[in-house]
Amino acid sequence: MGLCSATSNPFPLSFQLQFPNFSSQFNNTLSPNHCKLPAPFVKKKKQLNGCQRASGKVVAYYNLKKPPYELDALEPYMSKRTVEVHWGEHHRNYVERLNKALGKDDVLYGYTLEELIKVAYRNGSPQFEFNDACQVWNHNFFWESMQPGGGGTPEMGALQQIEKDFGSYLNFREQFVLAALGTFSSGWVWLAVNSEERRLEIVTTKNAVTPIVFGYIPIIGLDMWEHAYYLDYKDDRWSYVTNFLDHLVSWDVVLLRMARAEAFVNLGEPNIPVA
Ligand SMILES: [Fe+2]
Repeated sequence: MGLCSATSNPFPLSFQLQFPNFSSQFNNTLSPNHCKLPAPFVKKKKQLNGCQRASGKVVAYYNLKKPPYELDALEPYMSKRTVEVHWGEHHRNYVERLNKALGKDDVLYGYTLEELIKVAYRNGSPQFEFNDACQVWNHNFFWESMQPGGGGTPEMGALQQIEKDFGSYLNFREQFVLAALGTFSSGWVWLAVNSEERRLEIVTTKNAVTPIVFGYIPIIGLDMWEHAYYLDYKDDRWSYVTNFLDHLVSWDVVLLRMARAEAFVNLGEPNIPVA
């Protein structure tokens, strides 16, 4: 499933992840280490006997997580109506559909959402639950990528890392906008840590796919599905993307996510003290 290719995109992206079908092409492009699955990969039902359940049957696996601000807090750049529809209807549908699918056969019970995505991905042959699990995770991440009064030029470590990996904030901004506008149909644009290259990259994914299945650590996620912007911007995706960067993105959250990422990936030069 999924592949990595910059050939179909005319924009100068540092990288692009696409998801046209569940082919094996991805496996020819990235090493298996990009997707390390938690063990055991598939749980058998008999292993679940010891799980704590209220009535013997799990009825809700994952909750609809509320954005960390009021629904009108992002106005005028993202209207209350857009958030009501996007979070209250689309995001809610992903959660309910995922829970319903899991309820039919709860062999996937007990995973964190991120673990579930990696397990359901099945190394490129995704299970039915994969898309909804990704969309729940993506939307949780998207809402938390923004804050009222956000946007503008980042500061401190976030700015230093962006300047290191993109040359300047303006270069980053230009590449992010071009990548977002280059997404065809539904998809996502991300600022993410490439764990192997030990640097930030801008990547795009099609449909519901999240870059965590490719071993990336997302730092910013922007929803490029039409439902994310059409009520406010119609087809003016440039204004949607630039307002996100200039007025909404939470650099505070970016700093926290980068600090968390650096627990796993050294983004600078190794500095190991001599014993
Ligand atoms: Fe969405």
